[in-house]
Amino acid sequence: MSDWTQLWLNYRKVSCDINSVNVSIEGFSCDNRIIKSLISELERGFKGLLDADVNILAEGGSGKADGLNVAIKKETSILAEGYRVSRKGSDVLVEASDERGALYGTYHLLRMVNSGELSDDYEKKCEPDNPLRMMNHWDNMDGSIERGYSGRSFFYKNNEITVDERTRDYARFMASIGINGVVINNVNVKDAASYLITDRYFDKLKEMSDVFADYGIKMYLSLNFASPIELGGMEVCDPLDPDVIKWWEDKCKEVFTALPDLGGFLVKADSEGRPGPFTYGRTQADGANMLADVVKPYDKLIIWRCFVYNCTQDWRDTKTDRARAGYDYFKDLDGKYHENVILQIKNGPMDFQIREPVSPLLGGLTKTNQMLEVQIAQEYTGQQIDLCYLIPLFKEVIDFKTYCQKEKDTVADIISGRAFGNKNCGIAAVINTGNDLNWTGNDLAAANLYGFGRLAFDMSLSAEEIAREWVKQTYTLEKEDEDIIVNMLLNSREIYEKYTCPLGIGWMVTPNTHYGPSVDGYEYSRWGTYHRADHLGLGVDRSDKGTGYAMQYYPENASKYNEMDKCPEELLLFFHHVPYSYRLKDGRTLIQYIYDSHFEGESRAEEIAGDWEKLKGKIPDDSFNRVKNRFERQIYNAKEWRDQVNTYFYRKSGIADEKGRKIYE
Ligand code: GCU
Repeated sequence: MSDWTQLWLNYRKVSCDINSVNVSIEGFSCDNRIIKSLISELERGFKGLLDADVNILAEGGSGKADGLNVAIKKETSILAEGYRVSRKGSDVLVEASDERGALYGTYHLLRMVNSGELSDDYEKKCEPDNPLRMMNHWDNMDGSIERGYSGRSFFYKNNEITVDERTRDYARFMASIGINGVVINNVNVKDAASYLITDRYFDKLKEMSDVFADYGIKMYLSLNFASPIELGGMEVCDPLDPDVIKWWEDKCKEVFTALPDLGGFLVKADSEGRPGPFTYGRTQADGANMLADVVKPYDKLIIWRCFVYNCTQDWRDTKTDRARAGYDYFKDLDGKYHENVILQIKNGPMDFQIREPVSPLLGGLTKTNQMLEVQIAQEYTGQQIDLCYLIPLFKEVIDFKTYCQKEKDTVADIISGRAFGNKNCGIAAVINTGNDLNWTGNDLAAANLYGFGRLAFDMSLSAEEIAREWVKQTYTLEKEDEDIIVNMLLNSREIYEKYTCPLGIGWMVTPNTHYGPSVDGYEYSRWGTYHRADHLGLGVDRSDKGTGYAMQYYPENASKYNEMDKCPEELLLFFHHVPYSYRLKDGRTLIQYIYDSHFEGESRAEEIAGDWEKLKGKIPDDSFNRVKNRFERQIYNAKEWRDQVNTYFYRKSGIADEKGRKIYE
């Protein structure tokens, strides 16, 4: 037994009468590193699920014996990384055109056996929607994790890199959900992490990237844009300075010689104190393109983040709007980025709030490679204490119609490359793992980890399908008990939104930690995150009469967001400063909605905690108790949010709750 759980790969015995499995490998070499991983996963999976020994037949050999005959076969008509799994009686076929596809197909097969869905006559073909499906770790080399809620890093300790069995299990989990790229260090590259591109760490990095390569995963590093200064002792890191460029050329030669499998670099520049091209009067494109040209001979990527905004704003200034910043900085440079640059864009214009509009940069750019960034680390959404299944939120984002062209204009179309034919594009998540026994702090937060990968691979899956898949792989339950968890997950985002900061207002969190309420916590700060509540109303006017942010969208969306009466209600306070007496569509006033929503959110949090109690004895005790403990903390948090927000707005507005419930004065 290891010191960590096996998440959705726990391969518990299922009832089934198969007791032997023959595996033949056709068209792939058994010496290939990914095929070796595939074989070892089949052995492990079938041993656990069926208590069956796996008999591997030599390449091309046909497995005709009792039991299940599984052929892993090369089939060139299937797209890269895709697969087809089929079964006719006792013959199972996993077909793919490449090793990654074969590995993903193998995991699919094991999933189907686990959930009892591999019927005698089965066929399913899957090809990935997104070329790049990545996890971004915000792990620091001292072992801490920026916005980590599941313990310490399992990659680093005391500025050293760890590669062990846990690294391998991590890679297995990632491959099992189709992840093909991992950025292993925090975007804020400081201290020892700046030295990841030096020979101090090459040996260990090579070891790690080899483990990843066994599972078809490319390793990436976050880069310090000021490396020429910090490592090279230069005066500047101006991207147009020939000496700086030369420094990067030499550096990249060294890096890619030592780490040939490295996929490239992720860069956070000119953001929250990080260095960047702006210091030298250069554009974001100047910075990104310089690095892209340097890594191009090695066929590597520069993933450049668009999270660039002024974080030293004066709260008195109501015209500057942080939400505008991404578009203002990047839109005019559309078409100027080189082919191996990808702009990585957060789903909303602010910062991973429970509800934000979709960033207008997505689709606002039409001539630039784009990648969507979401966060499964629940920084603002309950920190893996409160239950908040995020796949419904991600689905809304990818299904969003941008109107960037007549057809194929959704975010899904753009990031998958369907809209504009790009190949360097996809989706990345800031990951929610750490070295906790259960990887994700709250056992139920693993649904976000699993769900993100599955969604990145197949964007047509619904939030419910993914939730059910995850439950089936993780626990062994009767259908009605599965339903309980699926419903808890599906309702959790709405519940969290209701007791925290609804109608798109966001924030109101405790500064720095970002957990728990502090209505004015960021109201007079430099971060550009204001709610602008006064005694008459609440919300930020981002219409054409306010900051003008609404006009960054294509007309179809802009006109909707620009007018209070047409604005989707869930985003009302994001776009408008609304009087407390304003009537919502159902006739309630805004202030009444605030009270109702907070009372309802808290009481529904208690309900889902009660639902979990129904599963006592059906979920393994350790998992059950961990989650139960999280619910106790969630309810405490929900009460705090309810009472602080309600009291705050009662004091501001002086308007009583129509229903006469307890609001503290
Ligand atoms: C948020 C988060 C930071 C992080 C930043 C980013 O602001 O609070 O910790 O560094 O996002 O995405 O770069």
